[in-house]
Amino acid sequence: MKAVRGMHDLFGVEIAKWQWIESQVKQVFENFGYQEIRTPVLESVEVFSKTVGDETDIVEKQMYSVQKESESLVLRPEGTAGFVRAVLEHQLHRDALHQRFFYYLPMFRHERPQKGRLRQFHQFGAELINDDSPEADAEVIALLVAIYKKLRITEYEVRINSLGCTECRPGMKKQLLDFLQPRLEHLCELCKKRFERAPLRVLDCKRETCKTAVAGSPQLNQCLCDQCKTHHDQLKKRLNEADVTFIDDPSIVRGLDYYSRTAFEFTSSLLGAQSALGGGGRYDQLASRFGEKPFPAVGFALGMERLVIALEAKGAFPEIKATPDVYLAALGNLPMDHLFPLSIQLKSSGVQTEISYAADKPLKWHLKQSNRLQCKFTVILGEDELKKKVILVKNMAAQTQVEFPLDSARTHILKQVKSEN
Ligand code: HAM
Repeated sequence: MKAVRGMHDLFGVEIAKWQWIESQVKQVFENFGYQEIRTPVLESVEVFSKTVGDETDIVEKQMYSVQKESESLVLRPEGTAGFVRAVLEHQLHRDALHQRFFYYLPMFRHERPQKGRLRQFHQFGAELINDDSPEADAEVIALLVAIYKKLRITEYEVRINSLGCTECRPGMKKQLLDFLQPRLEHLCELCKKRFERAPLRVLDCKRETCKTAVAGSPQLNQCLCDQCKTHHDQLKKRLNEADVTFIDDPSIVRGLDYYSRTAFEFTSSLLGAQSALGGGGRYDQLASRFGEKPFPAVGFALGMERLVIALEAKGAFPEIKATPDVYLAALGNLPMDHLFPLSIQLKSSGVQTEISYAADKPLKWHLKQSNRLQCKFTVILGEDELKKKVILVKNMAAQTQVEFPLDSARTHILKQVKSEN
């Protein structure tokens, strides 16, 4: 049996790397005042079909579905739609004040697996609700910058755009339709279908033929209404004040349909073909797709696996070693009667302790295990020591050895470990 294609087991050094990233990123979220939220892996299919967009790759072909009795469920392909479902369900938006949330959750998309593109992947995300200001947009972008800074990743570009609002989007669509109409025959079958219902999606198509056909398409930011233009200008001003270097790029449309006004993407040369390090934007109208009164919101998500690739490419992981403090070597069954309870006592007192229950092995074998695990001390108890009612504590680095009375072994070992740490 093998793990499902595009989904990975994680263990050993990999886990240590992930835990290091997790602790760094969570610290930044906390500094910015974001509270964690966890939503279920399974959601009703409508949570995504109504919001992410019928014409998007995600809804059209990437969702994993689960049919259980009369319920049509899917494994979440992204975090924002489920987040908004939770906000509405628990009325979190009724608090007039802005609120800040973050999440760290597995996502599922049935994409063609390749480096940096998985079918189960993990996203950190941030969502700021009840604030429609450009400052809120600037804050979340600055937060993403702060995360990369904390991880010492500097090789990335930030691209921002405005996708307009309900007021100016129709004008954008019209311009795009006029441009695409004479090029229709050069579009792929999917984009031909998307043409009338979701022409912005055509700009996001990854096929070379479509990319060539849309080259030179009208600059959609020329169609922005006055309010959207002012919002975008103010965002740029705030980003400059926050020392965020960015490119204003009208070709950014994002792969999800729920955005209005600000949309942004972070790409990195460290990643290869799947160069998107993170992305997000404003989704003030998303709640209305559930038939609810909308509330302003902006956020982003970044892929954990892509962070790992970026940090590996840079060789920027700190040396991560979780080495045990103590190795207990019982040379026989009687010594084991003493060392087994001692191991539980030490572990319960906060000492990282290793023990092998193979009581028939010689000392040489135990020392080899202790060295392999890079333990700081090896505690040795054999028949001779038992007779003398002592225990040996060997400092592995210094290669020195001290004898302690067996009945106060725990206190002595604790003291030794404390002096070493
Ligand atoms: P997204 O651009 O679809 O946005 O995904 C965000 C990030 O997730 C990407 O930039 C990439 O790093 C990572 N990612 C996406 N697909 C994969 C994959 N198949 N394998 C590995 N990593 C992947 C969203 O999901 C939005 N919900 C972001 C957002 C939050 N917008 C507003 N709030």
